Amino acid sequence: MSGSSKRKRVGVMTSGGDCPGLNAAIRAIVNHASLSYDWEVLGIPHATEGLLNRQSIPLGVHAMNLRGIDLLLTMGGTILGSVNSGDPLPVADQIIEGYHDLGLDALIAICGDGSLAILHQIAKRGGWNFLAIPKTIDNDVALTDRSIGFDTAVNTVTDALNRIISTAASHNRIMVVEVMGRTTGHLALHAGIAGGADVILLPEIPYSITGICRHIDELRERWNRKFALVVVAEGAQEVNSPGFVATSPSHPSIGQYVAEQISHCSQVPLEVRVSVLGHVQRGGMPLALDRILAAALGNMAVDLIAQSKFDRMLAWQAGKAIAIPIPEVLALSPRPLEPTSFLIRTAHGLGTYVGDNPPLPDIDLSLCGESLVCEL
Ligand code: F6P
Repeated sequence: MSGSSKRKRVGVMTSGGDCPGLNAAIRAIVNHASLSYDWEVLGIPHATEGLLNRQSIPLGVHAMNLRGIDLLLTMGGTILGSVNSGDPLPVADQIIEGYHDLGLDALIAICGDGSLAILHQIAKRGGWNFLAIPKTIDNDVALTDRSIGFDTAVNTVTDALNRIISTAASHNRIMVVEVMGRTTGHLALHAGIAGGADVILLPEIPYSITGICRHIDELRERWNRKFALVVVAEGAQEVNSPGFVATSPSHPSIGQYVAEQISHCSQVPLEVRVSVLGHVQRGGMPLALDRILAAALGNMAVDLIAQSKFDRMLAWQAGKAIAIPIPEVLALSPRPLEPTSFLIRTAHGLGTYVGDNPPLPDIDLSLCGESLVCEL
């Protein structure tokens, strides 16, 4: 039981695109707040719309028995619902009043960088006690190694690539797989490496069709590999192109666009097929790492409330949960891939074409001295 006599009332909401692990975070917040502090927990349905309409769902173990809460650990999506569009700022004052009318002592939002920017503005204007927990399959929230949902999405895409590469090999086809990630390539790069992609197209490193064709030709001529797996991030950029825009009904997505370009690649006719994974990447049961991340960040959010520390985002850095001032996160989000990162270097080493990257600087291992750990 906390020291203060008044029983706190903590609000929790999910905002932005959903992902696996949201419910696991809700469960962690409810369990710690209820069992360790005997506080009340109110779920706010559909993010700011719930505050606007003064809606709340009692979530404390007093209202739902532990068995009911436990089911949240393995459920995809969010029991609170979410919104991923619209601009609530014009009705910010009514939203602010909703927080106060519901009698909240604090509000935890599980959200991505887009919602965080909006909610932070409203929270400052309304004097809320506000905390955020990062979630997104894009993993583009800055200053946290991982956001909830990313690891499960990487595994979902990798599973899809495992299935697609076998049919590619069976028919000697070029299979183009379009993945989400909004303006960054974290998901495409991680899953592309895990799934053994031959080509990974990223927003951060523009590609050229010449580069792709040369790579596919080399696979055929030098390695007698007549099939290939091409992973395309939805935000991938073509060299000297202002940014992909669906240019015709025949290729309404960048995956179709790239497939059409590849089909004209080689002297020999290439059979090319496209799979756009879409919202499959957002679904499914959270895998262990996302459940652990959700539990750690949800748990720490409750402890920060007990210590009256607000205006912070929980983050996962070097294997532990920390709290970072939200303005610092917003200043660096959305976080792009570093074109010279060790993972890009790893993809190169695997013989993957990852765009027309300038040659990476050699690694000077002497910089590592005697240590076995070296920032590559
Ligand atoms: O931010 C998560 C995400 O899945 C992006 O990768 C994707 O571009 C976007 O959301 C899709 O948004 P919606 O669910 O509104 O179509």
